[in-house]
Parts: sequence; structure tokens; C-alpha cells
Amino acid sequence: MIVVTGANGNLGRMVVNFLKDRIPVSEIAVSVREPEKAADLSAHGIEIRQADFRDRASVMRAFTGADKVLIISTSGASDTVSEHRNAVDAAVEAGVKHIFYTSGTKEKISHIGRVHEQTEKAIIETGLNYTILRNNLYADVLVREVISAVKAGILSIPADDGKMTTVTRVDCAAAAAAVLATDGHQNKIYDITGPESLSWNDIAEIASEIAGKEIAFIPALTDAFRKGMIAKGLPDSRVDFLLEIYKAYSSGAYDVPSDAVAVLTGRPATPARDFIFRTAREALAH
Ligand SMILES: NC(=O)c1ccc[n+]([C@@H]2O[C@H](COP(=O)([O-])OP(=O)(O)OC[C@H]3O[C@@H](n4cnc5c(N)ncnc54)[C@H](OP(=O)(O)O)[C@@H]3O)[C@@H](O)[C@H]2O)c1
Repeated sequence: MIVVTGANGNLGRMVVNFLKDRIPVSEIAVSVREPEKAADLSAHGIEIRQADFRDRASVMRAFTGADKVLIISTSGASDTVSEHRNAVDAAVEAGVKHIFYTSGTKEKISHIGRVHEQTEKAIIETGLNYTILRNNLYADVLVREVISAVKAGILSIPADDGKMTTVTRVDCAAAAAAVLATDGHQNKIYDITGPESLSWNDIAEIASEIAGKEIAFIPALTDAFRKGMIAKGLPDSRVDFLLEIYKAYSSGAYDVPSDAVAVLTGRPATPARDFIFRTAREALAH
């Protein structure tokens, strides 16, 4: 039995959809906060269990009988580490044999990076088998940046031109389903990345191609970015959170060439440049 958490979210739902093509649905259960939103999975014969990481007993019940659980990282709010710790402790209490975790690129610059580092440590310290999937920056996030840049006529973000091996969310899901459905991933850490490194200048180039005119990447000054975000109604703490993330993207930490997607799934990783171009252009056409 495999239990997948976060199955009402984007990544979790994709993982379950890939997984049900690989193993019998009777071997899959999902753990979600709102079971009524998983009716389509239930209709396929997948067992729906209700749990919230803030309530460890609920997660323990959801993990009961599972050999493997996939813990999908949650929102990144200030108490995310304790949510993740609850899920890890619940896996131990429920007698799970192998914990899988969708982590992030290794870096300590951002709050998110530190959350993943502490969660990975907690998982490894359980002594159970583990598989950690360090998902790089979703190319889907860069689609949003391209759309904004085309609309604004400029790509202005508080970042330098560090490269990132950005990966599509679908490829992250396919890789997760592959490791869940096959043997041999005990105590492994995989960098789940796209096949090419893109810089913010490359992202501006994609925006320029879509716009049919030059869209320059001009790093935003931190103060100007903060003022703009506060004017849009974001609290200071959220702006700090974003500034740290952009700093991490610029640091080079996200440039982690890896062939893990191809090796795990048996098909090449989606070229990020094509994906971002195609998806942003389609969205802007509507
Ligand atoms: N690599 C990247 O670029 C990148 C970008 C964004 C996010 N992420 C990380 O990747 C994760 C998955 O991405 P995604 O696109 O699938 O995000 P998503 O659609 O926001 O899904 C997040 C999932 O976490 C669940 N969740 C949140 N708080 C929870 C709690 N207290 N207990 C149990 N479940 C909880 C949500 O449940 P509900 O459905 O009930 O709300 C949802 O299913 C995110 O949560 C985030 O940690 C990575």
C-alpha cells in the first residue's frame, strides 16, 4: 500500500494519476484535508483518507497499513517544519517502511531551503528507508514570470543572472510516481531537474520572442521591489520571504545538472525553454 499526501494539490494529483497507470488502484490511498475534493480519485477506486499535518493523529490514521508514503511538502508558511515533522513522526508511529519526500533544491539561503533541509534531516534520523526528491524550481513558476514580463514590457525582479535547471511540475510528478512504483530507491537523494540551465536573461529572451519585441531583464533594487510589493498589499514578512527566494535563485544553487528524470521515468526531461515559451504564449492568447 502506498499513501500519497497532498493529492488535492497540483503535484500530488499528478503523482496519483501517473501512479494509477503503473500499479493497481487497490494499492493506492491518498491523504487529503478535504475528501470531497477527491471524488474523482474515489471514482477510480482509490481510497481517500482525511488528514491534516497539523493533527498528527489524523496523519497516523491516514498512514496506517502503508508500506510507503509520499510526503508532499506543504505551503512553506512559518510552521511548515512542524507540519512536516508531524507527518514524519506519524509515519514512524504507523509502521511505514519507506518515506518518500518531495524536497527542494539544496540551499540554506531561503526559508524554504531551510525547511527542506530540516525535513530531510528529520526523515533520515528516523532510520527508516527514505527517498528524497529535490525538485528544482518549477518551470511553471517561470511561465508566470514570463507572462508578467510580457504584460509589463520588462522583466524586473530582485535577482542576478544565476542559472537554474528548472523542471516542469509534470516531470517532478512522473519521477515521484516512478520511484514509488519501482524497487531500488532506498536511501537515495535525487535532484529532479530539467535538461538545461536557464538564466533570467534567457527568461527575458523567451518573453521577447512571445512579445515580438525586446523585453530586457533589469534586476530590481531590493528597496524598489519592497515598495512595489507593499503597495500591492503584501506584508513585510511575505516580501522578505520572496526576497530570500530570489536571492537563492540567483546564487547558482539551483543550477544542478542531473539526468534523474530521464533515468527514473525512462523518457527525456521536458526542455524547459520550449515548455515556458509554449505555455506562456498559450496563456497570453486567451
Ligand atoms: N519547486 C518549486 O518551484 C515549487 C513551487 C511551489 C511550491 N513548491 C512546493 O511543492 C509542493 C507541491 O506543489 P504543488 O504545486 O502541488 O502545490 P499545491 O497545489 O499548493 O499543493 C500543496 C498541497 O499541500 C497540502 N497541504 C498544505 N497544508 C497542509 C496540511 N497542513 N496538511 C496536509 N496537507 C497540506 C495542500 O492540501 P489542500 O489541497 O488541502 O490545500 C495541497 O494539496 C508545495 O506545497 C510546495 O511545498 C515547489
